[in-house]
Amino acid sequence: MPQATQAHYLNHPTYPRLWNDCAACHVDGFDLIPDQGKAVATTLDAGAIDSGTGTSTVWKNQLDDTLQGASAAACTSCHQTTDARGHAYQNGWTPQTFENGRQTILDTK
Ligand code: HEC
Ligand code: HEC
Repeated sequence: MPQATQAHYLNHPTYPRLWNDCAACHVDGFDLIPDQGKAVATTLDAGAIDSGTGTSTVWKNQLDDTLQGASAAACTSCHQTTDARGHAYQNGWTPQTFENGRQTILDTK
């Protein structure tokens, strides 16, 4: 069987600006810590798979999601050390599931 070879180049893209140049993506002067009455918790772990296999995996149930506060999610997306995460969780809340998911958090307002 004839064989063909193809040269592949692996490039690891680099980011052309400083990571702490927040205004590269956000509007200048945006709230570094989002308004806690408006910022919606993000999903850290989507919980159990509800249906599907392989590429058609489906997570319908959001009530078993482990939620994380929006500020903690934003800051720890870059500051990933255990110390930084600990600081965020200690001064906010530890990622967890809630009886009624995000609604439980919204109801505390
Ligand atoms: C490379 C682009 C980029 C840079 C640089 C960046 N961000 Fe973000 N940031 C995003 C995106 C995209 C989102 C929205 C993520 C989402 O909705 O899931 C976001 C979301 C956020 C949020 C959550 C807002 C909310 O209301 O939920 C905060 C807070 C935040 N960023 C803070 C910062 C800070 C502070 C810096 C600088 C130290 C920064 N970001 C730098 C792209 C960036
Ligand atoms: C897009 C990436 C990114 C995000 C998001 C981000 N930071 Fe940073 N942060 C950096 C970088 C890069 C530095 C500079 C680190 C250095 O110079 O060693 C920094 C530095 C800091 C420092 C100074 C640390 C030191 O040792 O001097 C603090 C405090 C800090 N960030 C807090 C936060 C908080 C709070 C948030 C969330 C509101 C946040 N950062 C979000 C990238 C980010």
